[in-house]
Amino acid sequence: MSEQLRETLRVELGARGYDIVIGPGLLAEAGAHVAPLLRRKRVAVLTDETVAALHLEALRDGLAAEGIEMVSLALPAGEATKSWPQFSRAVEWLLEQKIERSDVVVALGGGVIGDLAGFAAAVLRRGVRFVQIPTSLLAQVDSSVGGKTGINSPQGKNLVGAFHQPSLVLADTQVLASLTPRDFIAGYGEVVKYGLLGDAAFFDWLEENGPALAAGDMAARVAAVKRSCEMKAEIVARDETEQGDRALLNLGHTFGHALESATGYSDRLLHGEGVAIGCALAFELSSRLGLCAQEAPSRLRQHLRAMGMKVDLRDIPGDLPGAEALMALMAQDKKVVDGKLRFILARGIGEAFVTSDVPGEAVRKLLDDALA
Ligand SMILES: NC(=O)c1ccc[n+]([C@@H]2O[C@H](COP(=O)([O-])OP(=O)(O)OC[C@H]3O[C@@H](n4cnc5c(N)ncnc54)[C@H](O)[C@@H]3O)[C@@H](O)[C@H]2O)c1
Repeated sequence: MSEQLRETLRVELGARGYDIVIGPGLLAEAGAHVAPLLRRKRVAVLTDETVAALHLEALRDGLAAEGIEMVSLALPAGEATKSWPQFSRAVEWLLEQKIERSDVVVALGGGVIGDLAGFAAAVLRRGVRFVQIPTSLLAQVDSSVGGKTGINSPQGKNLVGAFHQPSLVLADTQVLASLTPRDFIAGYGEVVKYGLLGDAAFFDWLEENGPALAAGDMAARVAAVKRSCEMKAEIVARDETEQGDRALLNLGHTFGHALESATGYSDRLLHGEGVAIGCALAFELSSRLGLCAQEAPSRLRQHLRAMGMKVDLRDIPGDLPGAEALMALMAQDKKVVDGKLRFILARGIGEAFVTSDVPGEAVRKLLDDALA
């Protein structure tokens, strides 16, 4: 693999800091990257059945190249796996495998596996180290970095979890080739989010290079994953536990989570799709509140459409509940402080900010219009 397609970033968190390595072919080199972390040459890998069928043997070979033995558990693929039953299954399996306090757990998969495995590592023997090997675009640009781990509960998404930083992130951009186009493009929703929240030049770049990136251009994929991880790493280093700025990363998520909940965390709406629709709603709301020019939501919608993404509520198949019910779901969000919902709004592309000062009536009207 060509040398220029290896990028290494550092998440600066003092003793808990770690590297993010990005590039094609990293599974084959996994052993060399993981070995320095190990006390004994054995790791436990959590993955899902889809990813296991496609990539587990490549990881096994990559680890074996450095004499590292691997045991693995493949959970069912999909958001429903981020649940108590699969979580306890994973933790008990790790205990059965005699994973010790000084061992390393490896998460090989998308955001579902990364979140669940990270949480399992956080609680196993009061905390063992873990390595993220994200295999979806969403996981490479977002969920594998920053240490938010957890599972869903019947009351809502990501309501149970822990902050637990990985010891290393290996983002092999070659494995993105086996994603379904829908899963790939859903992850792109989070990529666009970075441009929207803080880097207008990156948004320009995406408008220009998004189609090539979606078509498989490896240099463009590496560049997009790198810029996304840089932005996330920088925000996480500033505000690890989301006391302030880190909330910017939730742009589009308050709406998105309500829509995911309303569609039962099902195939009707993938997480990244909900984020893209949520970003479009957040920009529309910003424009209606006079915070940004009408041109900003139009330009965003145009880019999402050009990439073949869902943009409107009517792009979600099946019925949705009314504005009132969606607002009740939004109120369940973790971003509620003292009963007030915090929104991420924008003064323009690349200029997002956090506010609790949004009239409920404006949100209701926005949703009513979007549902009409
Ligand atoms: N912790 C965080 O900071 C954070 C941030 C954003 C999202 N998330 C979470 O991430 C989850 C969504 O992540 P996701 O979109 O990766 O979902 P996912 O893990 O369900 O992966 C999506 C689908 O792609 C498949 N897949 C993954 N890699 C593949 C590959 N290389 N080839 C073929 N198929 C592959 C999976 O089996 C799955 O069916 C949500 O639960 C969300 O809450 C967490």
